[in-house]
Amino acid sequence: MSVFNRDEEGAGGQTALLVVPTLARHDHSRGAEARTEEAKGLAEAIGITVTDALAFTVRQLKPGTLFGSGQVDEIAAAAAADDVTLTIVDHTLTPVQQKNLEDRLKTKVIDRTGLILEIFGERAATAEGRLQVELAHLDYQAGRLVRSWTHLERQRGGFGFLGGPGETQIEADRRMIRDRMARIRKELEQVKKTRGLHRDRRQRAPWPVVALVGYTNAGKSTLFNRLTEASVMAKDLLFATLDPTMRSVKLPGHEKVILSDTVGFVSDLPTQLVAAFRATLEEVASADLILHVRDIAHPDSEAQAEDVDHVLAELGLEEGKGPPRLEVWNKADLLSPDDYATLQGRAGPRGAILISAETGQGVEHLREVVGAALDPDRNRHDIALPASDGQRLSWLHANGKVLDQRMEGDRIHLVVELSEKDWERFNAL
Ligand code: GTP
Repeated sequence: MSVFNRDEEGAGGQTALLVVPTLARHDHSRGAEARTEEAKGLAEAIGITVTDALAFTVRQLKPGTLFGSGQVDEIAAAAAADDVTLTIVDHTLTPVQQKNLEDRLKTKVIDRTGLILEIFGERAATAEGRLQVELAHLDYQAGRLVRSWTHLERQRGGFGFLGGPGETQIEADRRMIRDRMARIRKELEQVKKTRGLHRDRRQRAPWPVVALVGYTNAGKSTLFNRLTEASVMAKDLLFATLDPTMRSVKLPGHEKVILSDTVGFVSDLPTQLVAAFRATLEEVASADLILHVRDIAHPDSEAQAEDVDHVLAELGLEEGKGPPRLEVWNKADLLSPDDYATLQGRAGPRGAILISAETGQGVEHLREVVGAALDPDRNRHDIALPASDGQRLSWLHANGKVLDQRMEGDRIHLVVELSEKDWERFNAL
């Protein structure tokens, strides 16, 4: 599913002009330069080459084109000079604005929501991820059909328009989209049921779960790899991670901890996607600990952190609610010695840990802090006993907390919480 479908071409390989509007009465937490860099990164993540970027201050928003007429001319001239096939507007466009701009610029136009949907579409790795993205995409399209219809209605003087050919076509399109959405919802329910079963199974072997969250490109996958030594895709691509990835890791004091990598967050996440990814992020809500990975060397680090907090709050996980949180300040290797010293001084009091997932600096300390934050006194152990070993079995029940017990052949497998001392005692039995 792609906004490029109609032309039977993908986003990859296209050349694009990037336009970043700053709206006078809109509270943009970032400067135009940082927004340009981020939008460029988003476009490049799906193989679009950005030839040039223009930033404009829009003093009075024009309903028809967003930009003022002189600005549209300027954009058109740049698009023609660079001979681009696509113009990306780093803002939400109404369908009418999009259509008018396409007519004036003689290129395809996509807005920020379209771009993010495109990336999510390319990155979705699991069946559930793909269905969620398609649902979000259809929702986006359906909204646009409704809005352009309303607009047409208004243009032609309103209610006398009902029954016209345009309306029939739109009605048919809407019905098709509605049917497809209903089918996807059914499929999703099925997939979720299966996922629920998997989760139940995992909960029965009750290992603590640590969820990594963070702004896109903060370094979650790199840290995940560093901690698990597994090879999850980590490229200099935004959204390399769309579906949560789970691995078990050994941490100080814990034989097994489940580490869960999640989708990267962005500012202005399309609302359709927030809803669509709620199920994926459920994993975060049920985690024992949330690690918020931040690119501390990024000039927008604070704004990015606020965005992540905001999305978490939308999912019902305001600060202080849900699992405890720990901030991981990543990319320490990119800091100047002065900045490094300042941040190192600040990290401790804020309960944050300064690391470099790339070089491994600070990662051992992080492992210790995470290990200690999870169940500090008791440790969980996977223990297998011969079924005939009634003595040690009853010792475990008497001295530890048996979280799981099942027979496999002639052996009993247990998950038991034991203090450090009791673990030593048990091994001496
Ligand atoms: P999304 O999947 O988009 O959410 O990104 P992510 O948070 O998983 O980021 P990822 O691990 O893919 O890293 C993004 C980029 O930052 C990659 O080019 C990494 O090599 C780089 N990176 C990650 N950690 C560090 C670090 O500690 N130092 C430096 N210099 N680069 C890092």
